[in-house]
This record gives sequence, C-alpha cells and structure tokens, in this order.
Amino acid sequence: MKGLSQLLPVSRTRSQSRLPRSCSFSEMEYTDAKPRSHHVLSKILMVAVLTALCIMILRQPSSFHSISPFSRHEPGVVHVLVTGGAGYIGSHAALRLLKDSYRVTIVDNLSRGNIGAVKVLQEQFPEPGRLQFILADLGDAQAVNKIFAENAFDAVMHFAAVAYVGESTLEPLRYYRNITANTLMVLEAMAANNVKTLIYSSTCATYGEPEKMPITEDTPQFPINPYGKAKKMAEDIILDFSKRSNMAVMILRYFNVIGSDPEGMLGESPKPELREHGRISGACFDAALGVIPGLKVRGTDYETADGTCIRDYIDVTDLVDAHVKALDKAEANKVGIYNVGTGKGRSVKEFVEACMEATGVNVNVKYLNRRPGDYAEVYSDPSKINLELNWTAQRTDLLESLRVAWRWQRSHREGYSAPLAMAF
Ligand SMILES: NC(=O)c1ccc[n+]([C@@H]2O[C@H](COP(=O)([O-])OP(=O)(O)OC[C@H]3O[C@@H](n4cnc5c(N)ncnc54)[C@H](O)[C@@H]3O)[C@@H](O)[C@H]2O)c1
Repeated sequence: MKGLSQLLPVSRTRSQSRLPRSCSFSEMEYTDAKPRSHHVLSKILMVAVLTALCIMILRQPSSFHSISPFSRHEPGVVHVLVTGGAGYIGSHAALRLLKDSYRVTIVDNLSRGNIGAVKVLQEQFPEPGRLQFILADLGDAQAVNKIFAENAFDAVMHFAAVAYVGESTLEPLRYYRNITANTLMVLEAMAANNVKTLIYSSTCATYGEPEKMPITEDTPQFPINPYGKAKKMAEDIILDFSKRSNMAVMILRYFNVIGSDPEGMLGESPKPELREHGRISGACFDAALGVIPGLKVRGTDYETADGTCIRDYIDVTDLVDAHVKALDKAEANKVGIYNVGTGKGRSVKEFVEACMEATGVNVNVKYLNRRPGDYAEVYSDPSKINLELNWTAQRTDLLESLRVAWRWQRSHREGYSAPLAMAF
C-alpha cells in the first residue's frame, strides 16, 4: 500500500502538469476524430482486401504463380538431372544434352568439379528453363530429398563420384560412402519422387583382372580395388531395386576416357592436388606444360607387343553419345548393361608417343618396373552396345583425340580459372 500511495501522487502530479496541453490536445482530438476513424476503417479494409487477394492467389492453379520451369513436367521436354555435371565427363554430357534440347539440372558439390565448366554451359544456354546448377552434396539426405521434391526430373544421369583407383586404396571408406551409399540415396529419392529412368556411370574396374580378353558384359566381375568394388556394389543395389520396380535402367561401364569437346568449350581439369592420382592423358599434358618434370611408365616387360600395358581409350564425345543413346532407348522394367569402349587396345608406349606428337613436346619419359596390381591388357568387346544401342565409337584416332584435348589444355593452363579465350 505504501508503495501505491507513493506512486499515486506522482501520477497525479504528472497528469496535472499535462492538463493544459491535454486541453488543447482534446481539441485537436475532437477536430481530428472523424478522419482518424476513417483512417482506421480504411486500414482494416485494406488488410481485408489483401488477405482475400492472398487467399485467391494461393487457391489459383499453379500456372498463376511464376513457378520455375524446372519444377514442372512439360510435354515434349525431357528434364535430366546430371549429378557430377561440373566434372570432366558430366560437363561434356550436360553440353550434349543441352545441344539436343534437353532441360538440364546439374547437381555437384564442386569437391572435384569446376564451377568454370558450369559457367561455360550457362553462357551457352542462358534461356530460362534450359540449365540450372544446384550446389549440393549427394551425401546430404535432406538436400537430396529437397532437390527431388522441388524439381520434376524425367531421368537421372548419375556421374558424381570420387574416381581414382589409387586414392580408393588409401581411403576406402570415402569411396564406399561417396559411390555406394550416395547411389543408394539417389535411388531412394528417385523412387520416392517417381523418377523412372537411371543412366549409371560404371567402370571396367568392376571386372578386376579378367582371364580372357576382350571383356564382354558377361565377363565375371571380381573387382580388385575399393573403387571397382564400390561401383560393383552400386550396380548390385540398382539391379536388385530394378527387380522390384518398373524403373528403366542403363548401366554403362566405361573404359579409359580421354579427349575433350571438339569445339573447345570444355576440357579435363582435375584439382591440382589430385594430379598425383591422375590419369595418363592428364599426366602427359602436365609433363608437356612443364607442370611435372616428366612421365613415368611402369612396366616394360608385359607380354604385349612393346612390353607396356594395353588399354582401351574412349573419347569423351563418343562416351556422351552413348549416354544419349542409352537414355533414348531406356525402357521401363528393363535393365541394359553395356561396355563403352572402342574394342581396340593401345599400348602405353603408343599413347605416350601420340601425346608427344599432339603436344609437340619431347616429354621426358622414365621407364620403371611394373606397378603391383596393374594388369597387362584391358580392352572391351563393344558388340552389345553396337548392336542394341546402335552406338559405335567414332573418334578412334588417338592422335586426333589428344590434339583436341591439348588445344584446350594449352589455352587453359590454369584450368577453368584462366581467362576463357582460346589461344589458337
Ligand atoms: N574418367 C574416366 O576415365 C572414368 C572411367 C570410368 C568411369 N568413370 C566414372 O565417370 C564418372 C565421372 O567421372 P569424371 O572422370 O568426370 O570425374 P570428375 O571427378 O571429373 O567428376 C566427378 C564430379 O562429381 C562431383 N562429386 C563428387 N562427389 C560428389 C558428391 N558427394 N556430391 C555432389 N557431387 C559430387 C565432383 O565435384 C565432380 O564434379 C564417375 O562416376 C567415374 O567413376 C570415369
């Protein structure tokens, strides 16, 4: 109570002291009274109108919204999700798909790919509804589910992967998670969102060390490194799932991929830290550019014509053509498994000589002992894909493939971070 009696005088004093002002204020209030109530009324009216408008907009059919073209199916337009589309093969596939009027969404975490490759594609196809890029990790279930829920895909080309045999022996768990577990995640998202066509990037590494050459699709698969095993497991998951669904599946097992876009827009540009795991063409160009001191050829005493290993080199332009044909021929309830190679083996020595000719640089070559785990000969029998998909490798001139790739390398010494003008 004491407190209250102490407070009361204070408030009274305040109101007293404000009295004269309050009078004049009440006058003003009076004169203002009508317009103010109008003001409040009009505000209420406006809120009501806006609310009604919002409800109307929300109730409109979807076409009323400015919805992204990527989120709805459109008759005559095939929307392909290209995972790993910022990488070497994925970017070439995206280019081909865009040229063929497909709608493309690239999902990549840029761990190994290049945003520069995506920019090149965006510059070529800036029209709305042609290409979108989503930065996401396929190991992130929430992100993957959101992507599938918000986009209307008709098909998936699943390229994204870590893809170095040597690295896989050092970091096997990374390979099983990135390749096998992520493929499972993609498959689950496809199933949940009714996406019915999958073109899967597999590899000849799933065959291991076959006793007989050439390798056919019936050659038993006994992979010998975590990379090959992770891809084989992913294949098995896809095959098991396809038995219980009406999905259209194409599994393409590539041999050694080389070359680049003949128009010079795209090339192969692994991150510098991955060069040590790199592939022979990258190493050869690096040696020609002086980035590394020279080339090491391991093994000169194999039972081959010149003693070096034999491999089947497939040009990336032919490879992406196989993907488009596979997509075109993919049928519900069916699985197609195909080797993608030229069917012709080339020796490492032959490759190195072609590389020197293409670059015009006399690369320093060191011939060393065999590397454990390397097998003498690996080449494909591509008759199944020839017959069933009407696909044959067209760019079988090794020298020409390397010349094309070298042009891009020479004009992009810093990879995609260099100015994109071609210097030839
Ligand atoms: N290059 C070859 O000779 C060869 C041979 C056989 C099979 N393959 C297969 O082809 C596919 C593409 O290989 P590439 O040579 O273009 O490799 P790459 O490294 O150039 O491209 C792979 C892309 O996948 C992305 N990626 C990796 N993990 C990801 C993740 N968790 N989430 C999102 N994006 C991710 C990378 O950032 C990269 O852009 C791979 O599946 C590979 O196993 C390649």
